[in-house]
Amino acid sequence: MTWSAAQYLKFEDQRTRPACDLLAAVPDLPDGPVYDLGCGPGNSTALLVERFGAGRVTGIDTAPDMLATAARRLPDCRFLSADLASWEPEAPAALLFANAVFQWVPDTLEVLAWLAERLLPGGVLAVQMPDNLTEPSHAAMRETAAEVRFAPYLADAEKLRTPVPQPRRLFERLAQDGRQVDVWHTVYNHPLPDADAIVEWVKGTGLRPFLDPLPAALVAAFTDAYRERIAQSYPPMTDGRVLLRFPRLFLTVRRME
Ligand SMILES: C[S@@+](CC[C@H](N)C(=O)[O-])C[C@H]1O[C@@H](n2cnc3c(N)ncnc32)[C@H](O)[C@@H]1O
Repeated sequence: MTWSAAQYLKFEDQRTRPACDLLAAVPDLPDGPVYDLGCGPGNSTALLVERFGAGRVTGIDTAPDMLATAARRLPDCRFLSADLASWEPEAPAALLFANAVFQWVPDTLEVLAWLAERLLPGGVLAVQMPDNLTEPSHAAMRETAAEVRFAPYLADAEKLRTPVPQPRRLFERLAQDGRQVDVWHTVYNHPLPDADAIVEWVKGTGLRPFLDPLPAALVAAFTDAYRERIAQSYPPMTDGRVLLRFPRLFLTVRRME
């Protein structure tokens, strides 16, 4: 899957807000390394640098464009290319911070459980994942992909996004060995100029698995068919704008002293 920093950053403020909310739930930490997992273009990393200082923070990502953009933005920070499915911190961490990445990592629950074992006493694993697969924005992707002209290319598109684990499963798997778990949802309502803006938003994230496999000649046709569905599902408000409803799941796991 290709990631474009410029496309992602078209909605930087809205995308960074859950990272702020997640960081606000992180208590005082022990001394030690801080990792931004799936750091993207460095927007979430910048929040960590502000609170903990650049010297403590390492950003991890797989996308070259994201890593290059993050390194330009935060030249005093360390950025590493690594796949979170198998990545391991060099030493136990004070904070493993992951805003909007684990929905892209298979076997999410097991990876989170494995990471939760790599915390210092008092350390925290803090995760936010979009929980929006049943929203019209994502149902419309699947409906469009099922059209005869697109279906042959998109059999696997849906499988790239991992459904968010149920809160109950998170507690059952992670609240062990003296770890304190908190799970909550926040539903954001983003007013956007029009239906096209919703399409632009998801082009930076959720729509990529549906656009990347298509032959170039079909990309515009898919985008148009998707846009029509979005326009139906997100009618204008009285001021002409549309409202993108966006549920997100938050998780913190703290290793007690
Ligand atoms: C939606 S962006 C999140 C960026 C940023 N953390 C934020 O708060 O907005 C997700 C990032 O996760 C990265 N990513 C996706 N799968 C990954 C994996 N398996 N290992 C490491 N990074 C991954 C992508 O390259 C992308 O930069």
